[in-house]
Amino acid sequence: MAHKSETNIKLQLVDAGVDTLQKFSENDVWFIKLPYYISESNIPDLKNLTKELNSFIENSSKNSTVAILTSPVFAAHFLSELTPLGQLKLWIGVKLIAPIKTDFSLNQHHAALIIITRYSKTLQHTKTRIGYTFCPNCDKTTKDYGGKKHLYNEYGTLMSDVWRDIEIDYSKDIDLLKERLQDLFAVKPYKFLKFIDLTAKHAPVSPDVSLEKKDVKTNDFEYLGDTNSLIINQDCLEGLKKIPSNSIDFCFADPPYNVNKKYESWDDDRDIIEYFNWCDKWISELARVVKPGKTVAILNIPQWAVRHFKHLKNILSFQDWIIWEGLSLPVRMIMPAHYSIVCFTKGKADNIPGLTRNSHSAIEHDSLTTMKEFYCSRASCINKRRKESINDKELITNLWWDIHRLKHNSRRVDHPTQLPPMFMNRLISLFTNEGDIVLDPFNGSGTTSLCAAKLNRRFFGIELSEKYYKISLNRHAELENGIDPFRKQDTTPKAKNSYVQRLRKQKYEVDKKTLQLYIKDLSVKLGRIPTREDVISFNTYPIDYFDSYFINWGEVTAAARTTGMESVENKSDYKLKQQLRLFEEKQNKYGNLKKTSEEKRHD
Ligand SMILES: C[S@@+](CC[C@H](N)C(=O)[O-])C[C@H]1O[C@@H](n2cnc3c(N)ncnc32)[C@H](O)[C@@H]1O
Repeated sequence: MAHKSETNIKLQLVDAGVDTLQKFSENDVWFIKLPYYISESNIPDLKNLTKELNSFIENSSKNSTVAILTSPVFAAHFLSELTPLGQLKLWIGVKLIAPIKTDFSLNQHHAALIIITRYSKTLQHTKTRIGYTFCPNCDKTTKDYGGKKHLYNEYGTLMSDVWRDIEIDYSKDIDLLKERLQDLFAVKPYKFLKFIDLTAKHAPVSPDVSLEKKDVKTNDFEYLGDTNSLIINQDCLEGLKKIPSNSIDFCFADPPYNVNKKYESWDDDRDIIEYFNWCDKWISELARVVKPGKTVAILNIPQWAVRHFKHLKNILSFQDWIIWEGLSLPVRMIMPAHYSIVCFTKGKADNIPGLTRNSHSAIEHDSLTTMKEFYCSRASCINKRRKESINDKELITNLWWDIHRLKHNSRRVDHPTQLPPMFMNRLISLFTNEGDIVLDPFNGSGTTSLCAAKLNRRFFGIELSEKYYKISLNRHAELENGIDPFRKQDTTPKAKNSYVQRLRKQKYEVDKKTLQLYIKDLSVKLGRIPTREDVISFNTYPIDYFDSYFINWGEVTAAARTTGMESVENKSDYKLKQQLRLFEEKQNKYGNLKKTSEEKRHD
């Protein structure tokens, strides 16, 4: 088992057959498996299947949870038509054991497990952890938990909404996934996990290959003039009007997500219908200006990306649904940690430039390869691997987990939602060749235009805020003068990118960790979690220390509520267990593969 639930209860697994869609009870968690459709034209009866699933959700009890496993393209289609009685709680990306090849996209490396409930409160599930993984080269934990090991659990971390610790073979049984759902939803009032396999009933049909590249004349973007590239300070809808139809090689948009971020000139907390109507307008413009066969890629949270999908599929052709796991650590329950990059093309997609050109520059090469799973990113370990010529790299698929968000990083400038350069390098390297024009209507601090410039692409950036526009201009000037615009900054950016109140650095003779470990000792002595009053009466450290170091009492007692990893790393038997677990999983995987070939021979 690759996970550990905090409760010892498991839902009873029931194979509900395929014709039992009407047998509902109050206490059900349903798990429906549909085929992995590569494109909408693979789906035999899209309308009826959507209707069938919606009426299933409508007829299920008010406590129901329905988990549907399918491909991203069907998940996006279905969710864009979801009955108002159902609520999308999570889109979980589940890694596939072997990527599926297509001739129009990156290799497909994830399935969509969408969790829909009839209730509106937050998703009810058990706290479930996945084990830490260790680098096969240096033997240290894959992720660097730095000075915070005392705050982590002995077994592992809480789960995010991208499951890479289990890999499923879509064409076979998916026992690991069933087992996880049996544990994950073992909360009142549920008793059963009812599994319905609809893969045979709704088997994919051959894809429609009639899609043609649109035969339209492409246009030069003369507006760029001699400068070749440009950033303008304007509203995107105004700025986009200046661009001729069919003139852009790659359109990328990282819009405001309407999640109440503090932008300088934009209210990021609008009525949601107003937000989507506005999105539809600039998306239609991107569809107009992109050249035939080329890509429009839009980054957003999965819930909103589904709505973009609904609009895009009426005007362009689906290409890919890339998952970017932003790598923040889950803190409480399953935490949404990933973004979707929805890719559409105008008519039939051209070959993807980054996957087909003969040679790559160094940046292109680095951004189109990724670290193999389980290798760590400690500089010392990377250097050692390089010296020992260990092959720790592989070609990217459509599941990206190796690029960190900038968050509180010292490379941030004064912009609240700056993208990491590696992320833009990858997209630009993938979807363009040198000399191509890249368009970003939300250019912000200039990540897109700067990466385009570094990769010898032309760019057109639009940005509403004068402040961000000027930041991007300064950074371009730095680039032209040989200064790295992505270097570490000496000053802390003023723009906040989080609502968590930041406390000023304190200079006491004890650090935060010491205080947390003190509370942990105290909790052992008291046999319970210490209160503020306990700390005052013991008076080992002044209560002021706690008040000024921590945001709340929960943070003070964090280490007392968990076992801590530090002790774990000293326990070689624990690590051995982890390695055995990974080994057993691999054995099972290869055992299964072996069985298949034996079965084949038998046939
Ligand atoms: C998510 S941020 C993009 C950040 C950018 N990718 C970066 O790395 O710096 C969205 C940007 O869109 C800008 N913006 C918001 N509304 C806009 C509009 N109507 N037209 C153009 N830009 C707009 C915001 O000021 C913000 O800089």
